[in-house]
Amino acid sequence: MIVAIDGPAGSGKSTTARRVAERMGWLYLDTGAMYRAVGLAFVEAEQPFSSECAAKLMPGVSVDLDPTATGLRVLLNGEDVTAQIRTPEAGKAASKVAVLGDVRRRLVETQRRIAHREVDAGRGVVLEGRDIGTVVFPDADVKIFMIAELAARARRRYDELKAGMNGDTPSLDVISDELAERDQRDAERALSPLLPAEDAVLLDTTSISVDEQVERVLSIIDDRRNNTE
Ligand code: DC
Repeated sequence: MIVAIDGPAGSGKSTTARRVAERMGWLYLDTGAMYRAVGLAFVEAEQPFSSECAAKLMPGVSVDLDPTATGLRVLLNGEDVTAQIRTPEAGKAASKVAVLGDVRRRLVETQRRIAHREVDAGRGVVLEGRDIGTVVFPDADVKIFMIAELAARARRRYDELKAGMNGDTPSLDVISDELAERDQRDAERALSPLLPAEDAVLLDTTSISVDEQVERVLSIIDDRRNNTE
């Protein structure tokens, strides 16, 4: 079974998708991590975020997600970049490379390959991103689009950064502005913009807990399984 969870930054997708996958014993595929790793590749190569550079760089870039007991390890050309991709700068770079056709084509191909491998082996997969239900798997068995008010999303990102960073945490206002800017870029781009699929279930997480989000998604999966058996 393929479960697609899309939505804007900070809507609760990652935590929910990861926990749902854990509960089901399925693979969790964080596609944003892949765009972040490619963003980092551009920054490290000191290249501008242009189509020309994408055509030049992408053939030499490999991104792998390695599931471990402590979570997904993200590898860029074999190097562990799991921590590096979580900075606000990497998020910004990710949303800039995400507008480029060569980048999207390569990553979508990888996402489909990994998911098909799981399904062929009789397992399920929970993919989380922006275009999973619309482009990567338009025939996904379950499609969920998570939304939340900007203030709630900024607060979550702030708490996450504060918990995970040793240095200074950007202020709530700065995080909120960056999220709004990123949402706009993700929603307005020509290729695979952030958009709910027509048949996606909308889940507003502004005032529900992570536990409730997980239970809602599990019950949607359950309904779907009961209807197809
Ligand atoms: O979910 P995230 O914040 O880690 O995603 C980082 C960026 O990657 C986000 O700004 C948009 C882009 N992205 C995308 O375009 N398509 C996806 N399927 C996942 C992420």
